[in-house]
Amino acid sequence: MKTIDSISQLRAHIKQARTAGKTIALVPTMGNLHAGHLALIERARQAADFIVASIFVNPLQFGVNEDLDSYPRTLAQDQAQLIEAGCHLLFTPNEQLMYPQGMTTQSIVRVPVVSEGLCGGSRPGHFDGVATIVTKLLNLVQPDMAVFGEKDFQQLAVIRKLTEDLNLPIDIIGAPIVRDHDGLALSSRNGYLSAEQRQQAPQLYHHLQQTVCELKAGGDATEVIKHTKQRLIESGFRPDYIELRSATDLAKYSNQNQLIVLAAVFLGQTRLIDNIIFNLVD
Ligand code: PAJ
Repeated sequence: MKTIDSISQLRAHIKQARTAGKTIALVPTMGNLHAGHLALIERARQAADFIVASIFVNPLQFGVNEDLDSYPRTLAQDQAQLIEAGCHLLFTPNEQLMYPQGMTTQSIVRVPVVSEGLCGGSRPGHFDGVATIVTKLLNLVQPDMAVFGEKDFQQLAVIRKLTEDLNLPIDIIGAPIVRDHDGLALSSRNGYLSAEQRQQAPQLYHHLQQTVCELKAGGDATEVIKHTKQRLIESGFRPDYIELRSATDLAKYSNQNQLIVLAAVFLGQTRLIDNIIFNLVD
């Protein structure tokens, strides 16, 4: 695996792969890789011949009081894991390369409606930052497909919508959430948790499982969500949101069958997100 940090090198490697008749998949990340990221590489390998990963901690998607400076940067370990996973090319641009004229004058990709509410409600501008960097990466690599995790389900929906709206000829593949042995969804931010908080954290998933059970048993959606919120508070979380939405387009719940329950909670200073996709009636 080659690690490159310039656009000219990136284009040269892509051209070489194309000339050899290879199909190309892109897996964008912010690094500090774990088994959730590596599952995306594995998924990409099932679908394409040449796998490009990117690592860029994108300042445009962080709010002023968020963890941009403390976000874990572990390039050497990430490279070793990517080699092991069978990635072919790693693109590690810096801020100057991605935003040469600074972020304030950067053209922005904004995806209305689907970016609003949920994480978009609590993190203003976050999905504009995500949509902009992902569009840039898709344009730089011009892959046949790109793989994203369902853990960030709203992000996946935003990227699907921008690809459709901007007529990008790229297949967007969603990959299931990878969890730790106790159910906690893997996340680079789990490293911020104290030992005690790490013990508590899987309760988020367990409460969501309970929510799904109650909904499938015919519970009233508003009541069930209200009880989940209460139970999250009793378990020591500070809920940011917990919502039931359509799993096809994140539309508000109104008796659809393919559903998703999504939650974001704080445990101390750490913000955790999780979701479960399910059918109300199997
Ligand atoms: P990052 O948080 O590094 O995540 C990179 C990719 O890994 C995303 O598609 C995310 O959904 C996926 N992922 C993270 N944890 C996962 C898990 N436990 N199971 C399955 N997939 C998981 O998401 C971003 O970076 C950025 O917003 C990015 C898309 C790179 C744009 O900057």
